[in-house]
Amino acid sequence: MGCNVNDGVAKQVNIASRADLSSENTLKLPCQAEYFATPGTLSALSDVLGKANREEWPITLLGGGSNVLLPDWLPGLVVRPALQQWWVAVPDRPEIAKGDVFVHVGAGVNWHTLVMAMAARGLWGIENLALIPGSCGAAPVQNIGAYGVELADTLHSVQVMELATGRCYWLNANECVFGYRDSIFKRNLTDKVVITQLILRLSRKPMPQLNYGDLAARLPRLPTPLAVAEAVCDIRREKLPDPNVLANAGSFFKNPLVSDHQAAQLLARYPSMPHFPQASGQTKLAAGWLIDQCGLKGLRDGAFGVHQHQALVLVHFGGGDRHGLMKLANYIAAQVEGRFGILLEPEPRLINP
Ligand code: EPU
Repeated sequence: MGCNVNDGVAKQVNIASRADLSSENTLKLPCQAEYFATPGTLSALSDVLGKANREEWPITLLGGGSNVLLPDWLPGLVVRPALQQWWVAVPDRPEIAKGDVFVHVGAGVNWHTLVMAMAARGLWGIENLALIPGSCGAAPVQNIGAYGVELADTLHSVQVMELATGRCYWLNANECVFGYRDSIFKRNLTDKVVITQLILRLSRKPMPQLNYGDLAARLPRLPTPLAVAEAVCDIRREKLPDPNVLANAGSFFKNPLVSDHQAAQLLARYPSMPHFPQASGQTKLAAGWLIDQCGLKGLRDGAFGVHQHQALVLVHFGGGDRHGLMKLANYIAAQVEGRFGILLEPEPRLINP
């Protein structure tokens, strides 16, 4: 599959200078970008990238800003793709299972809006991922996941544009090398491509995934995808702060993966510790539980704090910057390491410098 960069839209490169990005990130960290552009078409995107390359500006990519730790000052160009189109294609090919549909979605579409639109159409596959903040283009980068489902489960392919050349190409799901909160976009392709479009494979055939927590208990035996999405929204609203009300970036740390041996040693000391054996032979632990056990839930340090209902979420009460947030994060990580011998890693992306 190729892509048409020359999409007939008049060339116009709108680039703002000295743009305030404090409301472009859900942690509301103060940040000023030297240049900022939100191209809405492939040709506009290719034009802004071309301009940045000619001027030798460093390029930073931003999605919904819900998983980034921004510095006070970002030199060069910050690009937030605003490609907003989406459409559903019903394939008429014998090799495609009956009931499967392909959803094409531009990188700039809001993820939660897409989830609710698909669930309302009776399409299964992403309903457990309701209310995750951010844009569709950012979703593959950390392979968003919640309530037993990951984006990788339904992702068919990803269209990207090379930053250096403006060339577009497609990656299939295998080529994205998805893992837990991980993908090729965090590894070999970091700072090399911008995601422009996704294709998801959804289904009209019921395939509810209700094994996580008390999701099943909240739903009838044969729910609709919309009912599942709404139940997920209810659970998230009970536990997680709304970034529009209290600034945050969701889980601040990844759930650590430890060897089965280390998990067994910890379980001998803490029999009630939540633990999730993985197919890889490792065991995933709950970072929120580890932080909670250190008595840090509800802790406040100046402008930042540990959320009172979910220790994995750090919140910004206002007036702080990345330095203050990292001070609290480092303190938490040191407490957990001291007590459990486990090193926590931040989940949001630290944007340099
Ligand atoms: N827990 C505590 N205290 C806390 C928080 C959690 O004891 O303060 C315990 C819970 O009782 C539970 C376990 O830790 O036994 C796991 O907690 P929960 O089910 O709330 O999930 P999580 O591991 O904290 C992960 C994802 C979330 C996702 C939920 C639901 C990561 C880093 N986080 O959180 O994703 O919504 O599962 O699937 O994987 C995000 O990535 O931003 C995010 C919110």
